[in-house]
Amino acid sequence: MGFIEVTDVKNLPPGSRKVLSINGKDVLVFNIDGEISAIGNVCLHKGGPLIEGRVEPKYDGCYVTCPWHGWEYNVKTGAAPPGFHDQQALYDTLIKEDKIYVSTSPKVLPKKAEHRDKPLQDLVELRYETTRSSLNILGISCTNMNENLPRKSTSYEALQQSLEYGREKYNASTVLLKLSDLEFRHCEGYYSRNEQACTWPCSISEMDSHDGMNEVYRKMILWADILVLSTPIRWGNASSLYYKMAERLNCVQNQITLQDRVLVKNKVASFIITGGQDNIQQVAGQMMVFFTELGFSLTPFSFVGWSRGWTAEDMQQNVRAFSKSTYIKRSIRELIDNDIKLLHQLKGDPCVNIASPLPKISEAPSKIKIDVDGTPKDLHGNT
Ligand code: FES
Repeated sequence: MGFIEVTDVKNLPPGSRKVLSINGKDVLVFNIDGEISAIGNVCLHKGGPLIEGRVEPKYDGCYVTCPWHGWEYNVKTGAAPPGFHDQQALYDTLIKEDKIYVSTSPKVLPKKAEHRDKPLQDLVELRYETTRSSLNILGISCTNMNENLPRKSTSYEALQQSLEYGREKYNASTVLLKLSDLEFRHCEGYYSRNEQACTWPCSISEMDSHDGMNEVYRKMILWADILVLSTPIRWGNASSLYYKMAERLNCVQNQITLQDRVLVKNKVASFIITGGQDNIQQVAGQMMVFFTELGFSLTPFSFVGWSRGWTAEDMQQNVRAFSKSTYIKRSIRELIDNDIKLLHQLKGDPCVNIASPLPKISEAPSKIKIDVDGTPKDLHGNT
């Protein structure tokens, strides 16, 4: 094994680190209390840059934490913490005449451990449960209430009615998820650090296989043919639970950006939006754009709205008026009828490859070079 001179000792004082390119590999060299060590800089999980990670004593030694999702490596051995079997590339180092040398190839090769327990494998492999003949309707309720102090929710009631109609008239299989029953974390914005740090399955799901969003991913992406999403109006917008879920669906949309991979195909979405006061069209517009960006198809008239107007502060009248409304009963049925018609059309000629006219990472400004003549070219020189 050969060695390569990398720097003077004085350029790497205790407590500092440096990334070097050795034979095309990024190697991270540490000086921990005067002891020099070197490991691979690219995290084995999704490629996060360890140079940007926190270094601190923990467990049985000193560890660097990947800044993307928190994988850890012993800076002296490259090993994962006790109980894990991943191994970062480990390089030999030596000091001669005040110069630091690093081996030209790793003395221990990197190894990503096989994890026997794979709780998200169905999501990883996209094991779709939909078939040409399936009719699975998923209802997602975004209302929030205290289970100990239950009350009538118009958006929830309308959602229940829509699923019941789907079962009775079309023999559909139905599932109703209440977001308020699912404990799930907010999106933690890994995307903002690097687009590659936003993963499918969601990196939060990988960290916590019990996170409640996993049920949403499974049912929405793998199981549902039709999604009916209901929300109350809160200050002119959908409920905060809706936005909490929507942010966590970034990982679905981001697959289009990063991999040109559309996870949602041949699925229909529709909406039920209810509020004491108005703003239905704005809420519907936001949801319609969002769900088409995920790949859902929308029928004409893809939402049912209920409100009694700006002055309707007499909320105790709202549920009563809603329950008696023939408009609601009819329009919910028609919403489902239209969803099912569109689904049949989609399944008659299902999309295998669907074009996604959204920005791709290869088209990002930093990936495009502009020629002297002002012609944009990709990194391969194609115009
Ligand atoms: S923990 Fe390093 S890339 Fe995910």
